[in-house]
Amino acid sequence: MQTSLRTHNCGELRLSHVGQEASLCGWIQRSRDQGYILFVDLRDRYGITQVSIKSDEHKEIYDKARKLGREFVVKFTGMVVERESKNPKLPTGEVELVPTSMELLNEAKLPPFLIQDDTDGLEDLRMEYRYLDLRRPKMTQNFETRAKVMRATREYLDSKGFLEIETPFLIKSTPEGARDFLVPSRLHHGTFYALPQSPQIMKQLLMVAGMDRYYQIVKCFRDEDFRGDRQPEFTQIDCEMSFVGQDDVLDTFEGMTKHIFKSVANVDLPDFIRMPYKDAIKYYGTDKPDLRFDCKIVDLNDHLGGTDFSVFNKLIENDGLIAGIVAKGCASFSRKKLDALTKFVKEPHMGASGLVYVKYNEDGSIKSSVDKFYSAEQLQKLGEQAGAEKGDLLLIVADQLHGKTRKILGQLRLHLGRQEGWIDEDKWSVFWVVNFPLFEENEETGALTFAHHPFCMPDEENLKFLYSDKEEDLKKVAAQSYDMVINGNEIVSGSVRVHQPDIQERIFEILGLSKEEQDAKFGFMLKAFEYGAPPHGGCAFGLDRFVMLLTGESSIRDVIAFPKTAGGRDIMMDAPAEVPVENLGELGIGLK
Ligand code: AMO
Repeated sequence: MQTSLRTHNCGELRLSHVGQEASLCGWIQRSRDQGYILFVDLRDRYGITQVSIKSDEHKEIYDKARKLGREFVVKFTGMVVERESKNPKLPTGEVELVPTSMELLNEAKLPPFLIQDDTDGLEDLRMEYRYLDLRRPKMTQNFETRAKVMRATREYLDSKGFLEIETPFLIKSTPEGARDFLVPSRLHHGTFYALPQSPQIMKQLLMVAGMDRYYQIVKCFRDEDFRGDRQPEFTQIDCEMSFVGQDDVLDTFEGMTKHIFKSVANVDLPDFIRMPYKDAIKYYGTDKPDLRFDCKIVDLNDHLGGTDFSVFNKLIENDGLIAGIVAKGCASFSRKKLDALTKFVKEPHMGASGLVYVKYNEDGSIKSSVDKFYSAEQLQKLGEQAGAEKGDLLLIVADQLHGKTRKILGQLRLHLGRQEGWIDEDKWSVFWVVNFPLFEENEETGALTFAHHPFCMPDEENLKFLYSDKEEDLKKVAAQSYDMVINGNEIVSGSVRVHQPDIQERIFEILGLSKEEQDAKFGFMLKAFEYGAPPHGGCAFGLDRFVMLLTGESSIRDVIAFPKTAGGRDIMMDAPAEVPVENLGELGIGLK
């Protein structure tokens, strides 16, 4: 990698370079002084090269180099020679540089943690000195992968005729279900811009504008609570297409995902299944199942009634749900392990009232926590219905609310999958979940709200229910919306959009927006739709989550250059920060 300061980078030199002169620049990773010879590991983004300086041959350089501290920035020029003792772990490990000159480019303070993959720096310290944290080879690789994903994205979308178009950050609120970050206007006191939660409305307007195929790799801003896979500002690969139905969008972005996997990870993905949302919930208790392992939820109401067990009888009478999962080969679980699983499902955020187990032992005997109420024949029959064989463990959860029973079992499935090593880490599970409901109940208020966002097109079949006054009817309406799930993570979300103003107005009405509120919030969009909106649809990839999976990281923080901490702070810059009162005055704002 030739520049005016260097001829090669620190990951480049091989046996074929032996005998050539080379100049390398980089940071001192470490030095080992053996008295007569000094070994210096010089590091840059591309790798590490050993520099060796003999005290009798290059006394002056030897004396200067001995004083170099960790992370000093140095240039060495010299001869590439074959090493006597080679290091097979290092790509450059067959050669070393014997310098004839050394130039100190900059000194460095002692870094507060070790700059290597297994660093001793704790999270907060690494965030405070993020520029040092990013020097670690694993981090460098993460950003190489991220850049490759962006390059492959552009390659694919450009080849399909998509235009990369930027949209503004200072806009009006966009409804994606989170709180907005607000920016006060200096010129118009008392008014605020909202930072986009996504470019959703803008990209739809670009379709009205006839742009036909749009994409943008874009920052989105959401003031929401943190989790490992959420940041208040994150990046989407945002896309929209005109004159398409659901299958066109799914085909296009399945193609893009396969292209990225192939070019970044050399993985050939098989065709993606399209699983109806209803099946995802029914069999896996979640809209983002991890299909790297089997184990489906089985409904058991029909097989557990008619005995003295009043708990189950009551639930069956009242249309509650009793269901279970078969843990293959787990009949030998100890009391302690079963107790731990019971504790897991009873945790407050899960809320199960208990966990019933039936062990189908290898010797043919059956042992259960409800032995008192069920005969061995009944339990045998139950096992057959559930698909349990000798050696298996059937775990049963029951609740009046079907969704709750399924959710608990879905979590239990995942917990067991991780605990028992059922997940094949070398496998990829990539597929679509399709036809989400259009509306769902807000957990806090109980009112109907949108499941994805308010612009999703209802499916043809249930469109008639959209005009019903009954909540049960409205809940039946599925949307032409979809998510792509990778290894149990929601990576992409999208939908075919409403392009008819009357249907859009009806959806806003169901969401409780009066005509005036609709006009105030979305009037500009409804107006645009009166001027010939084409049928359109699209989706957005969560780029950070996607790269997190491709790099094998468990937090999106590891693939974002300067992320926020869990508390929403940038501790390197110390943001958010107070501002001088005068600045607030200019904005017409006073602090309470
Ligand atoms: P959605 O809100 O589902 O859809 O976002 C799309 C994808 O973005 C990722 N994502 C996030 N990643 C990190 N931190 C966050 N806080 C965060 N929130 C979302 C997820 C998600 O699947 N406008 C629609 C898309 C469309 O309909 O075209 C939208 O934004 O991977």
